[in-house]
Amino acid sequence: MPGGMCLMDNRPIGVFDSGLGGLTAVKEIKKVMPNESIIYFGDTGRVPYGTRSKTTLLKYAHQDINFLLSYNVKAIVAACGTISSTASEVGNNLSIPFIDVIYPTSIAACKETKNNRIGVIATSATINSGSFKRRINSINPDIVVLSKACPLFVSLVENGFILPHDPVTTQVAEKYLSELKNMDIDTLILGCTHFPIISHIIKDVIGTHVSLIDSGKETAKFCYETLKAKELLSDKKSAKYTYCVSDETDEFTNVAKIFLGSEIDGDVEKVDIEKY
Ligand code: DGL
Repeated sequence: MPGGMCLMDNRPIGVFDSGLGGLTAVKEIKKVMPNESIIYFGDTGRVPYGTRSKTTLLKYAHQDINFLLSYNVKAIVAACGTISSTASEVGNNLSIPFIDVIYPTSIAACKETKNNRIGVIATSATINSGSFKRRINSINPDIVVLSKACPLFVSLVENGFILPHDPVTTQVAEKYLSELKNMDIDTLILGCTHFPIISHIIKDVIGTHVSLIDSGKETAKFCYETLKAKELLSDKKSAKYTYCVSDETDEFTNVAKIFLGSEIDGDVEKVDIEKY
């Protein structure tokens, strides 16, 4: 390259999730990379993913990726712990970077723990896959990983049971986290991108001494590093955002705003995902 000139790429980043949870990752990507345009696909018509079989998840992941590829994206972020854990091979033959949440989140948790005891909460599919435990132990075999599936959190979040001290979500959290609470963990991975929305409730229940690791946040930072290393960052000053969903409910705008932490700042489109 003449004179050390830097290559840039103004194509959008594609991000997908089973529903609106992946918007927690979009929020972080926007913070870390304000110049990047984003196409988001939330499979709101087929959420939740976390209770489905591998065959179904592979089919969904292929369709979600094909849809994003139709927008000529330069990278794809699977902002979904479930797809990252059970079907990440769908990213293997792509000609663009495919980023899942397991590696960046595991690295961050390993750096954070002082006592080598990490908890993981996520969907049933993610916990049953053992993905986080495997990855963490490949980084540091001495770390004890304690996992708990918390599938109901996804529905509670998608349905807006998210206010501080919400009695229903607090009760569910008490039940799910009761064992983990007594296992001396100092770090807890929120292995599902829906969970940061109720991190205040999770923190109240598990205790303020436990550090929470947000998979969306860690993945956004890793996405930046990947794009930078591959000279794929954008130099455009006006990023464009498009939010696509497979079902648009009356509550979509209100719930999406909470996930994004701001007003919806782009087009919202409904997609027939079965066509992809
Ligand atoms: N947000 C997704 C995850 O990280 C999926 C939750 C679901 O659809 O069950 O796992």
